[in-house]
This record gives sequence, C-alpha cells and structure tokens, in this order.
Amino acid sequence: MIIGVPKETKSDEYRVALVPAGVEELLKRGHTVIIEQGAGSGSGISDEEYQRAGAQLVVERGEIYDKAQLVMKVKEPLPEEYPLLREEQIVFTFFHFAASKQLTDATLKAKAVAIAYETIRDEHGQHPILTPMSEVAGRMSIQEGAKYLEKPMLGRGILLSGVPGVAPAEVVIVGGGVVGTNAAKVASGFGARVTMLDINTGRLRYLDDIMPKNVVTLISNTQNIRQKVRDADLLIGAVLIEGARAPHVVTKEMVQTMKPGAVIVDVAIDQGGCIETSKPTNHSNPVYREYDVLHYCVTNIPSAVACTSTHALANVTLPYAREIADKGYERAARENPAILKGINMVKGVLTNKAVADAFGMSYRIFQS
Ligand SMILES: NC(=O)c1ccc[n+]([C@@H]2O[C@H](COP(=O)([O-])OP(=O)(O)OC[C@H]3O[C@@H](n4cnc5c(N)ncnc54)[C@H](O)[C@@H]3O)[C@@H](O)[C@H]2O)c1
Repeated sequence: MIIGVPKETKSDEYRVALVPAGVEELLKRGHTVIIEQGAGSGSGISDEEYQRAGAQLVVERGEIYDKAQLVMKVKEPLPEEYPLLREEQIVFTFFHFAASKQLTDATLKAKAVAIAYETIRDEHGQHPILTPMSEVAGRMSIQEGAKYLEKPMLGRGILLSGVPGVAPAEVVIVGGGVVGTNAAKVASGFGARVTMLDINTGRLRYLDDIMPKNVVTLISNTQNIRQKVRDADLLIGAVLIEGARAPHVVTKEMVQTMKPGAVIVDVAIDQGGCIETSKPTNHSNPVYREYDVLHYCVTNIPSAVACTSTHALANVTLPYAREIADKGYERAARENPAILKGINMVKGVLTNKAVADAFGMSYRIFQS
C-alpha cells in the first residue's frame, strides 16, 4: 500500500503521524511511505531522518492525497483539505466528527473511509490511541491551569500548593477517566486539594484506592457539581461519552457562581466541551474570559509538547496502521474488532451511531 503522511494544517499543530522507526517498519512489510517535506519539523524530526528510514519526500500536499491509499494524520482534515480527500481513500486520524457537522458532511461527500483514532476500542474497553494523548492532556491541564491562576495571566493569583500557614488551591475535576486521573496525579503532587467527580462508582472506588489523601472522590450529580464548581479555583472538564458530543455537565449558571479569576480547563472541548460556556481556542490564543472566569479550551493540547506527544502517539497507532496496510480495511475490520469500532464512515455511509445521533442522521453498521 502507499501510505501518505501530510504536514498537519491545524493552527499550532506540531505533531506528525509517523516517526522514522514507523517508516522503517512499514517498508519492511513491502509498503511505500510518502511524506510531506517538513512534516516532522515541529516534533524535532528532520526530512533527512525520514529519508534515511526509506520514506520518499513530497513537496506538494496534493500529491500525498493523490497517491496515498492510506493517509495517516494527527488531527481532523480542515476545510482546505476536504477537496483533496478521495473516494475509498482510507484516512486514519483523530476526527471527533460529533463536534463538527461540516467535517461529517465533507467526509461523507468525499466517500473516503474514515477510521477515527478516538473510537478504536480494545477488548478491555480501553481507547488505546486516545489514551496516551489523554495522559498528556490531563497532565498539561494542571500545568496550564496553574499558569493561568497567576495574577499576570489575569488569574486569581493563587499557588496550587499553598504554603505553610496558607491553604492550597481547590482543584475540581469532572470526569475520572484517563484525563481526570492524570490531572489528579499532577495536582495532588503539587499539594492542591483535589476533588474528582464521576458517574461510575466502580471507577470512583478504584480512584479512592490509588489516589493520595489530598484527593477526594464524589459521585457526579447536579447538586455535587453545583457545589464543587462554586468552590473551585481550577476546574478541569474531562468527561467522555465515546464518539458523542460531550454533555454540558457544568451549566452557565454554575460558572456564574465561580470566584473571580478562577480558571476552567475544558479538555473535553475536542468533543464539543462539557462546560456550557466553553468555546474552542488554540495555542496562539488559548484563553478568554467569561463571567470573570478564564477559559482555556485548546482542542489540541498535546501539540504543545509535540516531541513527547508524537512519539507517544506513534507508539500506539503503528500496530493498527500496519494491520490496515497489510490486510486492507475490510479484512482488518473483520479480523480485529478494535479496528471495526474505529470505522466511522465507508464510501459515503455513516457507520457510527454516536455521530449519527449527534446530528439526527441515519447510519448503517459496517459489515466487512
Ligand atoms: N483537548 C485535547 O487536546 C484533548 C486531548 C486528549 C483527550 N481529550 C478529550 O478529553 C476527554 C476525556 O478523555 P478520557 O480519555 O479521559 O476519557 P475516558 O473515557 O477515559 O474518561 C471519561 C470519564 O468521564 C466519565 N463521565 C461520563 N459522564 C460523566 C458525567 N456526567 N459526570 C462525570 N463524569 C462523567 C466517565 O465515567 C469516564 O470515567 C475526551 O473528550 C477526549 O477526547 C482532549
């Protein structure tokens, strides 16, 4: 198969979908890899390193889409890329369709085969490709939140850890999955007072076992969320319902009760955000103020630490890319249920229920 890797187009997206070690692996199996010039530069990987591994460099992005049977990316295609997508071309990337009707319509119209990183789910119910990016984003959410709590950044002017004789900050995390757990690890390590809310009692039981004593778990219901949001210096949104648009578990009215200069980091913004006042932002303009609360809603947080994130992502995408390239998407989906779950669209037909529900569209289960 010809595997194409374009340079990412999203604002401040520094990651790249394939590293030289992955190129070598794919070539060993008889595939061809074409990569856009400069695609790895944001992650500290030079064109020469890709060439040494056997990739062919391409100057024009259009040539990648013209030739590649499998396009590997990091983030969803942007409007300027929609006309480049081809019928039956496999596109393997983060799509987050439920957050964008425009992208959903464009990918359906192109009749491409869309395999979404975020809906690949293994036999343990885990999301193996989303997980490392959620680990990065969860850890980063506290790093960024701590920064914006500083007075020169227009925050409350509070130190997460406090100091002897002065109380630490209140960190409230809604959603105790991978993002939430990694956020809690870092925040508790700083010495903050941390509360985690989740609807899954089994998960709360696990978190109660493994977390240090400065982390308290609470069942997620409107009353508990309302009270904890009011107390929060730093609020992290980390809710996920697979494939679906994130529910607004924190309402506008709750945000209005927050302290002036408090900070919200809505990590779930890539799925539309779990806080009603959240709007997508980017690394060049990461925050805005609403009701005197700073909102950090960057949709590609891991890109800020691209050298770490690219390798973490490539470690988990390569086994699936290898299987799709070796077998073709139909056989790969037949033999590997995780890949089947990743298939969101096939040749103009929507195959993911959560995306269909988000837009009131019809869908058909993909049968390979
Ligand atoms: N912005 C970014 O750059 C970035 C990066 C990585 C991940 N994400 C996003 O972060 C979100 C979380 O990802 P994850 O990997 O932690 O997911 P996850 O599935 O591991 O965890 C989600 C948790 O939310 C909980 N939940 C569901 N409904 C809830 C509710 N009403 N109240 C409280 N908890 C609820 C679930 O029980 C689960 O424990 C996703 O939307 C993901 O796409 C964003």
